[in-house]
Amino acid sequence: MRTQVGIVGAGPAGLTLARLLEREGIESVVLEDRSREHVEQRVRAGVLEQGTADLLVEAGVGARLQREGIVHRGIELQFDGERHRIPLGDLTGGRSIVLYGQTEVVKDLVAARLESALPLLFEVEDVTLHELDTDRPRIRFRHDGADRELECDAIAGCDGFHGVCRPSIPPGVLRTFEREYPYAWLGILAAVAPSADELVYAHHERGFALLSLRGPELSRLYLQCRPDEDLDEWPDERVWDELQQRVALEGRSLAEGPILEKGVTGMRSFVAEPMQHGRLFLAGDAAHIVPPTGAKGLNLAIADVRVLAEALVSSFRGDATGLHTYSARCLARVWRAEHFSWWMTSMLHRTPGDDAFDLRLQLAQLRYVASSTAAATSLAENYVGLP
Ligand code: FAD
Ligand code: DHB
Repeated sequence: MRTQVGIVGAGPAGLTLARLLEREGIESVVLEDRSREHVEQRVRAGVLEQGTADLLVEAGVGARLQREGIVHRGIELQFDGERHRIPLGDLTGGRSIVLYGQTEVVKDLVAARLESALPLLFEVEDVTLHELDTDRPRIRFRHDGADRELECDAIAGCDGFHGVCRPSIPPGVLRTFEREYPYAWLGILAAVAPSADELVYAHHERGFALLSLRGPELSRLYLQCRPDEDLDEWPDERVWDELQQRVALEGRSLAEGPILEKGVTGMRSFVAEPMQHGRLFLAGDAAHIVPPTGAKGLNLAIADVRVLAEALVSSFRGDATGLHTYSARCLARVWRAEHFSWWMTSMLHRTPGDDAFDLRLQLAQLRYVASSTAAATSLAENYVGLP
């Protein structure tokens, strides 16, 4: 088998890249090791920056997003028993975010790929990369019980943090930067109308909590928990009780309902530099991870593949400059988002061992963001996404 771009991973990065290349007449093959059902049901992010939503619409996969996505022009910060609105739109010249689940983004992209009858192989096994520093890199894998080899002009490593592409780069090439946080998020999806009109990021002595949503009757809520948290110790009543303690305020109760999904997400910051080696280009979680506070992970993945698609298209038309500068262009945005996500995380979570001094610093920073237009604007422009 031969193609122009071999794409490993059918998450948001891989599927969006395939779509952008299709629109420019560039061939690709997408290889995914999980099943279609699995990738379409995996509950993860839900906040799309306006630029991400616009790109999906321009790529012709935004019809349902435009119908069902919920536009928000503000978020709320809760601390010291009060909520403070950050008017994102007013502070950023009218920019906004769209609430639309990653599951739905992936379903729309998979449907579009299949409708175009272009190659998207699920449940591939034993993916390995070869001859990355030649101009004919290869991907070997098994599919339907047979060994296959795919010869490419370039390979896009869109296979997430635990994928095979980054580890295929020879030792000594990459420099990595990493920070682990001593807490995680317990996330639930619940069949109940959201209790707040906008997202609520809550600082509380018992730990951080977040109120989000997926639809008029579907809430998404998160609680700071231990990284090794055992879900068996979190029956539904305990989850609701903890959420009530951290976010319910006088006159603003938290409605409860059946919990449809429950999971623990670890928190880490990670960057691999450079995001390329020979003819392999890493994009999305394969190259970098942010802690979820600030909702940047999915948006960064889409921003990477926008740059990569442009660079690949130009190189097939004879100008390889964009491929040479791919990593540097992406890393500037990545590091800005790394800082923002680390900052939001540090301001809102309780760290085991923190003392009263740390708590006072967090509250001073939250009060500053809530009361200074300059500080709120900084949060807002990062949150809606920098150009
Ligand atoms: P992924 O979505 O991870 O896609 C990679 C794909 O590659 C997967 O389909 C995987 O199955 C496939 N793959 C892996 N290995 C191989 C292989 N060897 N061969 C072939 N295919 C392979 N971000 C937020 O902004 N807010 C959140 O609330 C949030 N929650 C999250 C919860 C979890 C549990 C996780 C893991 C991430 C969360 N994120 C969140 C981050 C966000 O979902 C990611 O940044 C986003 O999915 C990145 O997209 P991606 O396409 O780069 O990677
Ligand atoms: C959601 C996730 C986030 O990480 C965040 O900061 C806001 C909302 C969500 O899943 O809805």
